[in-house]
Amino acid sequence: MEHKSWTTWMRIACIPLALLTTTVADFTTECQRPCDCRWQSGNKAAICSNSSLKVVPANLSNDIQILDLSNNNLQQLHQEAFKKVGLSNLKKLFLKECNIEVVHKTAFVTLAIMIELDLSKNRIRSLHPDTFKGTEKLRLINLSNNFIDKLEDGIFRNLKFLQKVEASNNRIHRIGTKAFVNLPQLKILRFNGNNLSHMKPETLMGLRNLSGLDLHNNPWRCDCNLQTFRDWVISHNLYTPPTSCAVPPSVQDKLWNELDSSNFACRPTILEPVPDATVKSYDENVTLTCKVVGNPPPEVGWRFNGKTIEMKAFGEIRYTVAENTMDLIRWVNLTIIYARYSDRGNYTCVAENPGGRDEKTLTLVLSRYGGVGTIAGMDTDSFAILVGCLTAIVIIFGAALVVCYFTTQNNEIKRLIKNDARSSNGDVLIEGSEASETEKAMKMEVNPVSKPPRKYEAPQSFTSEATEMSELNRTLLDNESVLGE
Ligand SMILES: *[C@@H]1O[C@H](CO)[C@@H](O)[C@H](O)[C@H]1NC(C)=O
Ligand SMILES: *[C@@H]1O[C@H](CO)[C@@H](O)[C@H](O)[C@H]1NC(C)=O
Ligand SMILES: *[C@@H]1O[C@H](CO)[C@@H](O)[C@H](O)[C@H]1NC(C)=O
Ligand SMILES: *[C@@H]1O[C@H](CO)[C@@H](O)[C@H](O)[C@H]1NC(C)=O
Ligand SMILES: *[C@@H]1O[C@H](CO)[C@@H](O)[C@H](O)[C@H]1NC(C)=O
Ligand SMILES: *[C@@H]1O[C@H](CO)[C@@H](O)[C@H](O)[C@H]1NC(C)=O
Ligand SMILES: *[C@@H]1O[C@H](CO)[C@@H](O)[C@H](O)[C@H]1NC(C)=O
Ligand SMILES: *[C@@H]1O[C@H](CO)[C@@H](O)[C@H](O)[C@H]1NC(C)=O
Repeated sequence: MEHKSWTTWMRIACIPLALLTTTVADFTTECQRPCDCRWQSGNKAAICSNSSLKVVPANLSNDIQILDLSNNNLQQLHQEAFKKVGLSNLKKLFLKECNIEVVHKTAFVTLAIMIELDLSKNRIRSLHPDTFKGTEKLRLINLSNNFIDKLEDGIFRNLKFLQKVEASNNRIHRIGTKAFVNLPQLKILRFNGNNLSHMKPETLMGLRNLSGLDLHNNPWRCDCNLQTFRDWVISHNLYTPPTSCAVPPSVQDKLWNELDSSNFACRPTILEPVPDATVKSYDENVTLTCKVVGNPPPEVGWRFNGKTIEMKAFGEIRYTVAENTMDLIRWVNLTIIYARYSDRGNYTCVAENPGGRDEKTLTLVLSRYGGVGTIAGMDTDSFAILVGCLTAIVIIFGAALVVCYFTTQNNEIKRLIKNDARSSNGDVLIEGSEASETEKAMKMEVNPVSKPPRKYEAPQSFTSEATEMSELNRTLLDNESVLGE
């Protein structure tokens, strides 16, 4: 009796012990090859790495918290891949180097307490935006060394505990502006070794706890579209070397932090005039318009037949310029005041900013002149030369007269001139000719009547005459009606 009751007591006492032993046995004994199940830093771990597993092993205990499947040949993570094998308590899942190409959007469903996921060194090309829908406790996602080409909007949504995303060495060329929203804990982001050339500022600017950002080894296009993002990176001390520019050529291989913000510029583009434009005008004042986009707003100027335009010519305002800038569009309108024949020709609008330069040329045709006239198509330079030539001809003609006067042996003429000079200030010389006022004036100068000229005095008076004459001629020639028509 006594013995019997002792045995009973022993049995009763042994029940919890047996139960405990059974539980322990579940976690380790259910573990089948090639997995090795053991405690790892307080968690039940199944180490199944370096095998040739093609599927997630079944029959692992539901209690497993750490599953290491690294270096297997899974190729695909099917629909509900972990739910199907009864794993729902995983905290850490290692799927590194598993030749995974496809991850089904529901593969991780039921892994509601998973905090770490390593998918690195696989062949994943894309991830569905719902991939992490059920894994709200994730703190670390490692996607590095895959072939992912874009991160879709919403892919990391609701991951309130997410601290770190590694996506280094993929082919990412686009990140949705809503891929990284509402992630209050996100601290580290790695995008080095991707195909990023641009980044909308709003993509990451909402991440207030971000303290580490790797962006190097990407083909960044350092233009005005990247400027705000670059400035944000620098001002938040998130720059890590050697983040550099790939294009445009002017900043190629330059580091972001060594360039000035203004170097992140967009080359100006002239929208008007269009290439090979011809402007025909009947107007007295002709306005030529230049419309440019560029960021920052470019310096814009006009050139005429390849030369910088002088606003004034011979003290007269010849051109005015009206300009304004709105929403990165800049107008610079050149008005030619009282357009004259010599204003025909090629006008070039030139725009330049730190991003580069553009120019467009238009041909101005002044219909008023209809293509006839003695100096058709003449530019300002030729015009100046013509003025000079005519002046010179008049001077030479004058000089010849002087010489004639002193060298002529014909006393008859000499006397006649002298007599005439006394009575009518030498008008006889030009009598019957069609000489202009200028010539008259000149001849009066050449033939001073009050004092008989001496031969060697001629050069002196010649010089002063020349100066006065060119003044006169200039005034005269500047008058369009004399020569233009
Ligand atoms: C698996 O192989 C890697 C090298 O390929 C090695 O570093 C690692 O320790 C191995 N793991 C196991 C559990 O044998
Ligand atoms: C897993 O357990 C089931 C029974 O629960 C058994 O039929 C199956 O063969 C086991 N699978 C493996 C791979 O051991
Ligand atoms: C992510 O994976 C890469 C490649 O396997 C590895 O070098 C890196 O250390 C991993 N990052 C983290 C935070 O585990
Ligand atoms: C940043 O992280 C800390 C804890 O790491 C948290 O207390 C804080 O709320 C976070 N900041 C923001 C803006 O969410
Ligand atoms: C990088 O992205 C561009 C598009 O932005 C694409 O044309 C190119 O093929 C990509 N390069 C690689 C290596 O993926
Ligand atoms: C041309 O411009 C001049 C100077 O600005 C002005 O006085 C004149 O009225 C203009 N002519 C016409 C037809 O607008
Ligand atoms: C320049 O000319 C264009 C076309 O006529 C006009 O739309 C624009 O307002 C002008 N801009 C200025 C500053 O005059
Ligand atoms: C203006 O441009 C046209 C063609 O672009 C050229 O044939 C012509 O010689 C130019 N005229 C002047 C005066 O430069």
